[in-house]
This record gives sequence, structure tokens and C-alpha cells, in this order.
Amino acid sequence: ISKNERNIFYSVSKITREKRAVALGQRGTFRGSTVWLTGLSGAGKSTTAFALEEYIVSKGLPAYCLDGDNIRFGLNKNLGFSNEDRVENIRRIAEVAKLFADAGIMCIVAFISPFEEDREGARKLHEDAGIPFIEVFVSTPLAVCESRDKKGLYEKARKGMIKGFTGIDAPYQPPPHPDIVIDTSIVSLDRSIEMIIAKLAERNVLS
Ligand code: PPS
Repeated sequence: ISKNERNIFYSVSKITREKRAVALGQRGTFRGSTVWLTGLSGAGKSTTAFALEEYIVSKGLPAYCLDGDNIRFGLNKNLGFSNEDRVENIRRIAEVAKLFADAGIMCIVAFISPFEEDREGARKLHEDAGIPFIEVFVSTPLAVCESRDKKGLYEKARKGMIKGFTGIDAPYQPPPHPDIVIDTSIVSLDRSIEMIIAKLAERNVLS
């Protein structure tokens, strides 16, 4: 269905990203962007995301973390973990991240986001709008995630108390061309943040 068939029309803002950046008092080349972390439950996505958010904000720049578990308490509380719901979960988050980034904020996304097609959709959505998008594969192996089992979910999944748990009886498709790979069982949190910052600088997001 094209937009016109549904009688809705897109209005374009008069504010450019450059003007918005000036209004936000941003310095250097920072203009909003999305850092997208993907990986298994317990891989270290949230820990990395919140540490990155803290680092960016400590430099006086705006950053905001969208975290899978947290967003499922609100915006996406009507979604479960079927393939269909996960697709919708990621579609909505890609759109929200784009809005945050377009508004001049660094949006840090931490969702399992198990399907390549959906992550590519998120990338395309950003690239089509000229917004930098950096995909971080938090590649910590399943055995390590399972041994951590901070939330006790792997144990429940192994016992069959949770059906369709990612990595156990639901799929995870590793990204074929991530911008950064971080295995948190090998790489320290500080080093992970350094790697992401270096990539952001390389993309001219940070001066
Ligand atoms: S997804 O696949 O991107 O839609 O998942 P996401 O929104 O990131 O939510 C993942 C968190 O939900 C908890 N949880 C589950 N994960 C995977 N599979 C099943 N069935 C499941 N049920 C609940 C779990 O705490 C995930 O948190 P993280 O932070 O990834 O460990």
C-alpha cells in the first residue's frame, strides 16, 4: 500500500540536521547517530550500551540507550518472542532509533535482534536518511552466556520452562559484516568502549 492510498502524507521539517545541531549546542562533527548492538541474551549488550552512554554523556554529548528488556515494559509491551513479534519489535526500534538520531542524539540500541534481514532493514532506514549507523556484534559464545546465566533464563530454557529461547530453541543469525565485533569473554569493557569510539571517529561522528 503506498502512502497516498492510505491518505497519509509525509511533511518535511524546515530544520536541517546542521541547524538542529547548532540549537542543541553541539560541537565538532557530532550530529546524532545509531550504535546498534546485537547478540545473544547475556552476551553483554546492555552492559556495553550503558557504559557507552555514560562515556558519551560524560563528554557533554547527548546519548540515549534503548534496551530490549526496558522497552518491552513500555512501547513494546504488547510483543512476545515469536518470530513475528521479534520482527515487529526490531522494526519499531529501528524507527525510534532513527528519530532519536535525527533529533541529534546518539541512540544506543541493545536488542538481541536475531534476524539479519531486520538488522539490514534498520541499517537501510538510517542510511537512506543519511544518518550514521554502526553495527556492533557482541559475539560472546553461547557457552559463556549460558554459564553466566545472570537472569536464570538459560536454565529455564534448558528445562523447557521457556519455549523459543534464543540460542537454545530459537535462532540467532550472526551478522555477516558487522562494523565491530566484541567478545566480552575476551575483551574488557574499557577496550570495548574504545573500539566503538574509534569507529565513531572514523565515521566522522565524533571529532
Ligand atoms: S529480540 O529477539 O531482539 O526481540 O529480543 P529483545 O527485545 O532484545 O529481548 C531480549 C530479552 O528478553 C528476555 N527474554 C528472552 N530472550 C530471548 N528469547 C526469549 N524467549 C526470551 N524471553 C525473555 C531476556 O531477558 C533478554 O534480555 P537480554 O538483555 O538479551 O539478556
